[in-house]
Amino acid sequence: MPAAPQTAANRLSDVPSSKMPRHIAIITDGNGRWAGQRGLPRVEGHRRGATSVRRTIEECGRLGIEQLTLYCLSTENWKRPAEELDFLMHLLQSYLVEERPQIMDNNVQIRWIGRRQGMPAQALQALDETVRLSAGNTGLRVCMAINYGGRAEVVDAARGIAREVRDGKIDIADIDESVVDAHLYTAGMPEPDLLIRTAGEMRISNFLLWQISYAELWVTEVYWPDFDEAQLHAAIRSFAARDRRFGGLT
Ligand code: IPE
Ligand code: MG
Repeated sequence: MPAAPQTAANRLSDVPSSKMPRHIAIITDGNGRWAGQRGLPRVEGHRRGATSVRRTIEECGRLGIEQLTLYCLSTENWKRPAEELDFLMHLLQSYLVEERPQIMDNNVQIRWIGRRQGMPAQALQALDETVRLSAGNTGLRVCMAINYGGRAEVVDAARGIAREVRDGKIDIADIDESVVDAHLYTAGMPEPDLLIRTAGEMRISNFLLWQISYAELWVTEVYWPDFDEAQLHAAIRSFAARDRRFGGLT
């Protein structure tokens, strides 16, 4: 008898739920190279990258993952040419508006981490509105890192804590890891268990510096527009096979 066809429901049935990551974070890279390989303008790579975002959100939802965090745009990306940034902001805006019915149907909650300062007003408006509309959804939480930088986040947290010390709300002696945690953009979110990077680079690029302390890393050569369900499953299988000790012994 031929093997049962792989369906969305059984594709990862070999991975016990206790071994599944709660929170997957992805450094989405390689849109430009994907386009370049095909003789297309870089923006075509970004357009196709949005398809990978949709596909990955859908699959994480099906798999019952609690949170997916996507590094869409870093504070450093503003060094790019204005036309590319303009395209990215319009893409983001139209994605957030056009995806709303699917986001609501699939019970997806959208969150955003990053700095408001420097973001175009229209993109901010689309982000805020999608975050607001989806706030009550109880399925997959999708956190988009846009105009995000890990060091900027630490700076903002330090400012927040300093203000509270100045105002007498907390004592310096009471500042511990949980206080720092609570002042990050990611306050209240679980830490990433699995950090995926596409397009082969072996670096963190200022992403979630504090939060990924114990994340398992998985890097693929595949460019983000080609990242699909099979890639996601390979990453999860690799994660499930690892022995996480958090500095202790097994
Ligand atoms: C990643 O693809 C997407 C964004 C940062 C928006 P890149 O645009 O960095 O693609 P490469 O690295 O040039 O291939
Ligand atoms: Mg890149």
